[in-house]
Amino acid sequence: MEGSYTVPNQQRLNIAALVSGMIKGAIIGLVSMLTDIRNYSNAKGTGQVFSFNLADEDSEIRVSVFGTNLRTHHYLCKNATAVRVSGGWLKASNSMYNSTDNELEMTLSVDKDGVLVASNEIVQQRKAQYIKIGVLSTFTLRKKVDIRGVISSTMAQREIQTKRGTTTNLAKVTLVDDSASSVSCTFWADSASLVNHWTVGDTLEVQGAQVQEYGNDISLNCTRANVRQYPANDSDLTEWFERAQSSQQIFEPVQKTQSTARPPDNQEVRRDTFVFQCSPEMFASFRNVQIMQVRCGDDEIIFSRDKRGGDVSLGQMESTPIAGPSHSTINEDD
Ligand SMILES: *[C@@H]1O[C@H](CO)[C@@H](O)[C@H](O)[C@H]1NC(C)=O
Ligand SMILES: *[C@@H]1O[C@H](CO)[C@@H](O)[C@H](O)[C@H]1NC(C)=O
Ligand SMILES: *[C@@H]1O[C@H](CO)[C@@H](O)[C@H](O)[C@H]1NC(C)=O
Ligand SMILES: *[C@@H]1O[C@H](CO)[C@@H](O)[C@H](O)[C@H]1NC(C)=O
Repeated sequence: MEGSYTVPNQQRLNIAALVSGMIKGAIIGLVSMLTDIRNYSNAKGTGQVFSFNLADEDSEIRVSVFGTNLRTHHYLCKNATAVRVSGGWLKASNSMYNSTDNELEMTLSVDKDGVLVASNEIVQQRKAQYIKIGVLSTFTLRKKVDIRGVISSTMAQREIQTKRGTTTNLAKVTLVDDSASSVSCTFWADSASLVNHWTVGDTLEVQGAQVQEYGNDISLNCTRANVRQYPANDSDLTEWFERAQSSQQIFEPVQKTQSTARPPDNQEVRRDTFVFQCSPEMFASFRNVQIMQVRCGDDEIIFSRDKRGGDVSLGQMESTPIAGPSHSTINEDD
């Protein structure tokens, strides 16, 4: 037809299949983590920028939108709405802002080839892939994970000072599951008030928690996570947790796989005292410890606190070698 033309309906690509360079097609996804518009000025000129994460059924990418006036584009990108993006440039993600599990991020210049429009296509939320808490030890910093667990302890919301001198709220819960592991989940700022609604024994489903490391410990930042509480008794974990509690099961906090504990100075096997150096913050963690498992490769030794073991300082420890492929024994009576 004379004088008319249609915009070709660009092929829709999966976010997981994107490669570096100019995007050859369009991606459609749901918006999350939308930032405000910021004005910038650098050697190339001035302009505006905002960013968001775009998620399709199985992957996510960070998109930064550049232009001289982004008000209408920003308006389109309401949280949890679907948008279609094409004409962007894909490059390695900047680890400073990287909150996705994507090695790429997208720059979209709407004054050039970049196109950002609302989409009425239905995009399913990423399907949760629940992993056991014990498996977290193999995950790297900032990775997003989904877990299900039972609350074994809570730390109520409290106001704390940030490094910048402002105050914010912080609350924590510890989750456990049948991998016999526990992980601390932190809720910062507004999300801290969620913890007020929960109590020990409640089952939580957490989607999109971010892996954090503190020393050797792994914890989860759940500030932006999607958290769902199971109604009482409506979880297969409830019964399991009751049994675990009555048998006084021990849950080990997840730690990074590689231990940085230093090997003993000399190879002498017989030693009465063996010193583990910990950070001062760890002191309080020993308060309620009844059993300590020390692992050296595939070998493990269990120390248990005797009945008189007082509050903070560990009382007399008796060693109990455990059954395993091989184990060391510390013989108490010489
Ligand atoms: C954005 O969506 C998240 C859930 O994905 C929600 O927790 C948050 O409050 C929303 N933010 C705004 C500004 O609507
Ligand atoms: C961004 O984070 C993901 C998940 O942790 C990682 O696979 C990716 O390599 C990171 N990208 C960069 C450039 O750090
Ligand atoms: C936890 O996540 C929130 C939201 O992504 C972020 O603002 C905050 O800095 C994170 N906290 C820490 C201690 O990394
Ligand atoms: C939950 O289960 C316990 C024992 O299994 C029962 O005593 C209690 O009434 C149940 N609560 C609800 C709300 O169903």
